[in-house]
Amino acid sequence: MKKHPTLRQTTTLWDYPAQNYPGAPQGDIGYTGATPSYIIWNLLQRYTKKKDLVVDPMCGSGTTIDVARELGRRALGYDLAPTRKDIFRADARRLPLETGKADFVFIDPPYSDHIQYAGGADCIGRLSAADDAYYEAMAKVISEIHRVLRPARYMALYVSDSYEKGKPFMPIGFRLYALLAEFFATVDIIAVRRHNAKLFRNNWHSAAVEHNYFLRGFHYLFIMYKEERRGELPRPRFDEQEVRAELEARRPLRDGQKQIQKGRGDGG
Ligand SMILES: C[S@@+](CC[C@H](N)C(=O)[O-])C[C@H]1O[C@@H](n2cnc3c(N)ncnc32)[C@H](O)[C@@H]1O
Repeated sequence: MKKHPTLRQTTTLWDYPAQNYPGAPQGDIGYTGATPSYIIWNLLQRYTKKKDLVVDPMCGSGTTIDVARELGRRALGYDLAPTRKDIFRADARRLPLETGKADFVFIDPPYSDHIQYAGGADCIGRLSAADDAYYEAMAKVISEIHRVLRPARYMALYVSDSYEKGKPFMPIGFRLYALLAEFFATVDIIAVRRHNAKLFRNNWHSAAVEHNYFLRGFHYLFIMYKEERRGELPRPRFDEQEVRAELEARRPLRDGQKQIQKGRGDGG
């Protein structure tokens, strides 16, 4: 089995060393708004098995489908503005997919209207999250995800809040979570550290001090479950061989930790 250099995140605060993990490229790091592939890798390791069908209704540069295929999952990507031949043109509110076909859905939607995507008038990235129209559109997307997802399966939505100087704060994360919770049971809520070269430009930080606001430092990752029966606990779905391989990869780390504890006299 190919040894993967990455390990799963184990707390609700995730970080990642680079936009892509080493190996074949995943998506296009030059695509504005591309999802860090490490996030998708962690989700697929935790909530899918090999051969499962992974769907991304807003696939952008194709990060989700590349990670899924590398992990031996099947993948389907849709977008209003496909960037590659293996991404199908579709509106995420009306997917050309039968009900209950997907084993996992990942989505990283536009957060308000900061980025100009190529999808034309139907692009949700043209709607400001200051207006109800954005949430009405996203409610349709979430309802469609619920339709295509098989019961007893998981989905995840990656999103950030938005603040623009001189405008009211936009709590996009909380508002989208409220929509998700109408359809799905909550598995967990993760904060993913935001890496953005612009965040390190000093003038941005000076402006945040001078005008007394905060720069966005994290994304939310909402992990949700489609219940088969109301109130059921989420049924585990992962590849046992992949878990065993990771536990093996972690053994030297665990043994090293024991040595450190013994050295300090607090082992045992
Ligand atoms: C944040 S990007 C996704 C990035 C992607 N995960 C990646 O790694 O490249 C959001 C995407 O949503 C697409 N989009 C916006 N409105 C859409 C809609 N109504 N239906 C399908 N795709 C849409 C945009 O074209 C854009 O590619």
